[in-house]
Amino acid sequence: MKFGVICVSDRCSKGLCEDKSGPLISELLASLGETVFYEIVPDEKTIISLALIKGCDKTDADIIFTTGGTGLAPRDVTPEATKAVIERETPGISEAIRQKSLEITPKAMLSRAASGIRGKTLIINLPGSPKAVKEALEFVIPVLPHACETLQGNTISCGGNY
Ligand code: MTE
Repeated sequence: MKFGVICVSDRCSKGLCEDKSGPLISELLASLGETVFYEIVPDEKTIISLALIKGCDKTDADIIFTTGGTGLAPRDVTPEATKAVIERETPGISEAIRQKSLEITPKAMLSRAASGIRGKTLIINLPGSPKAVKEALEFVIPVLPHACETLQGNTISCGGNY
């Protein structure tokens, strides 16, 4: 599997702090595949959307994870930037992450993270902190191989009649 990672952070994009969550995402996914696309962008809707379009349309990433910008702060616009470029929503993924995360912290309800499909690439928003990234990804990782299969049109292993 091939992954893309986009860190959405004003401070990291200005070099004022180090992106810890992006590299953590790649590390947690290393057993499943490689990260082929990595960018750090500011909390600007158009710039985030353009990075997502580039990752989906110009690379062979199967899944792009964003980290950060999903909360309530005035400049948190990652979900809006994602919804602007996806063709189909995958609400179950984002709902499942929130539901699982709520078992750990009530603050999980503050993440507005979205997810969806552009072409054959799945985009999944994750919150910004390394703690949240780890908690969310550990839950999602087991489903990713089957998500990839179905994205490519292979539904044989779904167990139903197709
Ligand atoms: N989800 C998990 N699993 N663990 C967390 O610690 N933090 C929450 C939430 N989701 C958290 C979490 C907090 S404090 C916020 S403000 C929102 O994610 C949004 O984070 P973001 O703006 O960095 O994307």
